[in-house]
Amino acid sequence: MGSAEGAPARPWTARAPGRVNLIGEHVDYLGGPVLPAAIDRFTTVRGLPAGAWSVESEVSGGLAYARALGEELGAAPHALRITSEVPPGVGLASSAALLVAIASGLRPDLDGVEAARACQRAEHRACGVRVGIMDQFVSALGRRGHALLLDCGSLEHRFVPFPEDLVMAVLDSGVRRRLSETPYEQRRREAEAGMPKRRRHVESEIARVHEFAAALAAGDRTRLGSLLRASHLSLRDDFEVSTPVVDGLVERAWTAPGCLGARIVGAGFGGSILALVEAEACDRFVEALAGVPVRLCRTADGAYASRTVP
Ligand code: GLA
Repeated sequence: MGSAEGAPARPWTARAPGRVNLIGEHVDYLGGPVLPAAIDRFTTVRGLPAGAWSVESEVSGGLAYARALGEELGAAPHALRITSEVPPGVGLASSAALLVAIASGLRPDLDGVEAARACQRAEHRACGVRVGIMDQFVSALGRRGHALLLDCGSLEHRFVPFPEDLVMAVLDSGVRRRLSETPYEQRRREAEAGMPKRRRHVESEIARVHEFAAALAAGDRTRLGSLLRASHLSLRDDFEVSTPVVDGLVERAWTAPGCLGARIVGAGFGGSILALVEAEACDRFVEALAGVPVRLCRTADGAYASRTVP
């Protein structure tokens, strides 16, 4: 795309959300099911066709992503200005939010699934880590009021209503990390090679995703909580992607008022934890976790949501 020679260079503004993964961790790159939701924290990009790619941002590292995505989409260079409510390294999929925001600015005409795939390929190129498709997919196609049940093998997906009186509380462990500096790739290889502990996590987590979706539909909150706990223990003991600081935070959250359950979220190795909290108890929950930065998140639409048929 971009401007033809002589045509006025048109600026655009686009945004895409971060995500919380309710359950289904470290199974997307193995073709398993996941249940994330897009959240009301966005990355916003202003773009203007230019002679070369450039990025102005509070957050560093965007240029490699922009170039890689430009190549994937066959887009002409742009000067980009980025602002973001999705901080990097906290487990809320900041790079997916950035890539999907740029994609939807450059190519609003694309099918959301194609956009997500292009963003995933760009991420592989830009950061050298073979991430799964979950983050890009939900940032593109998530829908307000819903979680997205996605089969990462077939890309078949459906929306599962998410209760209005539940809040996704994201607790920041303060431990920042770039995926390329973590054993993410190593865990992937171990799981692919069939290492027993890793497989035990993958198989039990896949079962939990289906049970969680069923419990959401049935309104069984006790079950939602116990599945989150079981997911955390499996990520801690079998997949070994937690840290003592994160484990301590998860255990504090488990006993806080209004909390159904909590677990490490995203790739792990630090980052954040997710706690599902009854909306009416949020203030007391936050109070009980004094000193821990908490982001209270609600579901949101993905960047390509309005372009899909309900
Ligand atoms: C990161 C990756 C995702 C997924 C999660 C773990 O967020 O980008 O593809 O693998 O880790 O579930």
